[in-house]
Amino acid sequence: MKSPIRIGIAGLGFGAEFIPIYQRHPDAELTAVCRRDKEALDRIADAFGVARRYTDFAELVRDPDLDAVHINTPIADHAPHTIAALEAGKHVLCTVPMATTIEDCRRIVELVRRTGLTYMMAETVVYSREFLFVKELYARGELGEIQFLQASHQQDLAGWPGYWEGFPPMHYATHCVGPCLALTGAEAEYVSCFGSGRIRAERIGRYNSPFAVETCHIKLRDSNLSARIYRSLFDTARQYRESFDVYGTRKAFEWPLVEGEEPVLHTAGKPEPEIPVRVSVPNYAERLPEPIRAFTTRGVYDLEENAHLSFTQGGGHGGSHPHLAHEFIAALLAGRSPFPNAVQAANWTCVGLCAHQSALAGGQATPLPEFTLAAGGA
Ligand SMILES: NC(=O)c1ccc[n+]([C@@H]2O[C@H](COP(=O)([O-])OP(=O)(O)OC[C@H]3O[C@@H](n4cnc5c(N)ncnc54)[C@H](O)[C@@H]3O)[C@@H](O)[C@H]2O)c1
Repeated sequence: MKSPIRIGIAGLGFGAEFIPIYQRHPDAELTAVCRRDKEALDRIADAFGVARRYTDFAELVRDPDLDAVHINTPIADHAPHTIAALEAGKHVLCTVPMATTIEDCRRIVELVRRTGLTYMMAETVVYSREFLFVKELYARGELGEIQFLQASHQQDLAGWPGYWEGFPPMHYATHCVGPCLALTGAEAEYVSCFGSGRIRAERIGRYNSPFAVETCHIKLRDSNLSARIYRSLFDTARQYRESFDVYGTRKAFEWPLVEGEEPVLHTAGKPEPEIPVRVSVPNYAERLPEPIRAFTTRGVYDLEENAHLSFTQGGGHGGSHPHLAHEFIAALLAGRSPFPNAVQAANWTCVGLCAHQSALAGGQATPLPEFTLAAGGA
């Protein structure tokens, strides 16, 4: 494809974070924005000077001047919106997770294969500065052989919009699955998940999901490794935390327990008190075009000209937003597969969907569907 890639963003809560990134990316053009509420749409579009506005997603994807759509609508809309965009001939970058059913993941993988269009899932953790740091250590051989990986995502969704009430924790697990699989480029083969505790009775009905915590082991395919992930969403006391730990023969990386602290690097073969050292992680901004480097440390909140706006999300997520946008644009320009592509996104998303099934079946080993494996996918 030719520069600039013309992008439309749908969903302007979290999605609004990406407006100024595309506006400044040298190979992108932020052509249109879409959200249902006209007043809120105009407020944000006015603030960023975006002329083309839609309140109807179906009209957005019919716009012949768009090459691609970046979807940031509520979780239940990810699959229908992705399918509508692909059917309208648009490339898709969609926030996590890919879908909330295995069948919808399958439909998206098949559509991508049939249309030849590009699909990427915008998993923030695998473009966070912490993950990029661990990936660099691994690539340089500093971790040695990997022995174990684990990740968590704990959050309290009490008071969030109604559709989250009682949501099965593993149905939104890609923030933990992604880093465990992405580090070594692995696929998940099967999972076994246990449910633990119980959420309040009035929260259970909507999704028929009783567990406060879900803990899943993932067997990595063609590998001697397994990973552990755990999630909680309601009725469990814990500060927000997306963590990722990796244990190697030579070094191990551990996420801080408390938000704002530095992560810890352990080195084998040192006297016991010298094994753990707190490390400061770089931003990897130099991997990005100069005009969007600042977004590795700042969100739309912090840009002076937008200081009067209030959005639901900050510029956090480990500085990942400009890396995600750049990966999508760079893949389209080069005609290569983005990371994670549709099959990888389906594998990561289906780990969580299969894990919840496994938990409901008392921990039964549950294989990932064939279409989520590179040999069986797009
Ligand atoms: N770290 C991350 O990767 C991360 C962080 C935050 C949110 N998210 C994801 O982003 C999505 C949005 O989260 P949020 O917090 O911004 O939610 P939100 O409810 O605050 O915002 C949703 C936006 O979508 C718009 N919308 C809803 N239905 C629409 C439709 N049919 N057509 C067009 N626009 C529509 C709404 O008007 C709103 O602007 C969620 O699925 C969430 O999981 C991911």
